[in-house]
Amino acid sequence: MDYTFSTIIEPFRIHSVEPLRLTSAAERRSALAEAGYNVFNLRSTDVLIDLLTDSGTGAMSRDQWAAIQHGDESYAGSPSWFRFEAAVKDLFPFRHVIPTHQGRAAEKILFSVLGGPGKVIPNNTHFDTTRANVEASGATALDMVIPEGRDAAAIHPFKGNIDLEALEALLAERRDDVPVVMLTITNNSGGGQPVSLANIRAASEISHRYGVPLFLDACRFAENAWFIHEREEGQGDREVADIVREVASLADGMTMSAKKDPFGNIGGWLALNDDALAEKCRNVLILTEGFPTYGGLAGRDLEALAQGLSEAVSPDYLRYRIGSTAYLGDALDRAGVPVVKPIGGHAVYLDAKALLAHIPPLQYPGQSLAVALYEAGGVRACEIGTVMFGRQPDGSEVPAAMELVRLAIPRRTYTQSHVDYVIEVVSAVARDAASLPGYRMTYEPAALRHFTARYEPIG
Ligand code: F0G
Repeated sequence: MDYTFSTIIEPFRIHSVEPLRLTSAAERRSALAEAGYNVFNLRSTDVLIDLLTDSGTGAMSRDQWAAIQHGDESYAGSPSWFRFEAAVKDLFPFRHVIPTHQGRAAEKILFSVLGGPGKVIPNNTHFDTTRANVEASGATALDMVIPEGRDAAAIHPFKGNIDLEALEALLAERRDDVPVVMLTITNNSGGGQPVSLANIRAASEISHRYGVPLFLDACRFAENAWFIHEREEGQGDREVADIVREVASLADGMTMSAKKDPFGNIGGWLALNDDALAEKCRNVLILTEGFPTYGGLAGRDLEALAQGLSEAVSPDYLRYRIGSTAYLGDALDRAGVPVVKPIGGHAVYLDAKALLAHIPPLQYPGQSLAVALYEAGGVRACEIGTVMFGRQPDGSEVPAAMELVRLAIPRRTYTQSHVDYVIEVVSAVARDAASLPGYRMTYEPAALRHFTARYEPIG
């Protein structure tokens, strides 16, 4: 008899443990008051389940720790570099690979060379550091996700797709002002939603017809490839690595935060085909990051990433990864908690606007929900709403389009019982949502206010 079972199996067993500290509600209330009600200001040792980000926080494997022992710290031409370069090129066969300490360093290099006043960079949705680096160069960052991607409740298998008509219209009108078209896979700021192979193919065709290169912001490339494998017609029998290679073949380059799918605690790269552009980028690299065979990384980091890349495309791992994120989102949905649907790859996004309708946007419903999750159960999540996006360059404050709270899932780090606990905590807080207060800021920094602002509850 061939049985099939539905329990999600973590495709690993635990080899080394990291203790978690249980705190009392009284301890959490005092930690919150001390942190000015900003969960970024908490000590991580006061957090039980940390869902602030999936970046750099995943568990490395036995084989990654073993690879670290092979780290060769030679300044130039280290064997660790050659192993890293080969692992990157195996999945992303671009001519030039430029190692950086994390994703935003690759963005900084690319946009300082390609950006500048008068330039426009389209993307499905720019991540905040990408937008900030585009804007820091003087260029304009344009978000062009399909309309379904802006609607928390709309169901679409590839809600991260770029709006091809809008892209074509932009290029027809201003192609000389567009140095590069970006595509973020998966679309983090839009709910971790995937981009289809057909959409990437079409974006590539349009960009190339206008003579503009296409670059991927590919932090979550393996999760995106898994969604293509599962949801796109004719893709279900392919190897994940093969899908990744096809996606890469449609682009002219990429930026990468290796702190996500490649399982790095730190790391990133910029990769591209254009020789002249690569030379300019390497010159900036040497000024800001390091010599081209290590960039911003130690030899041991390069080894950990080379090994991590081979694990990232394992189908057993990806089935578990996407399945366990959906398990959390679907359970919350069944419990009546409003979430962004369908569930994305690396995170579940709670819709605080729907849940805390009694709190006006300028009293930060997402912030209130994030505080309540920590107070109730020591769960740390991140507001993605008016706190993050509300302050405008002209000094005014306006409500963000969506008031979300992101539960980002670190890779291979928490077990199913941790996830069951999170479901209990979120459901309990949601039942009492009508009693949660709004917040006002008592301190607001000049930029990126969500990181260091301080608050007090209203009433
Ligand atoms: N691009 C995307 C789509 C990202 O999600 C991130 C980081 C970056 C670029 C920048 O990479 O952090 O290595 O400099 N996202 C993290 C997050 C911080 O929590 O979503 P980095």
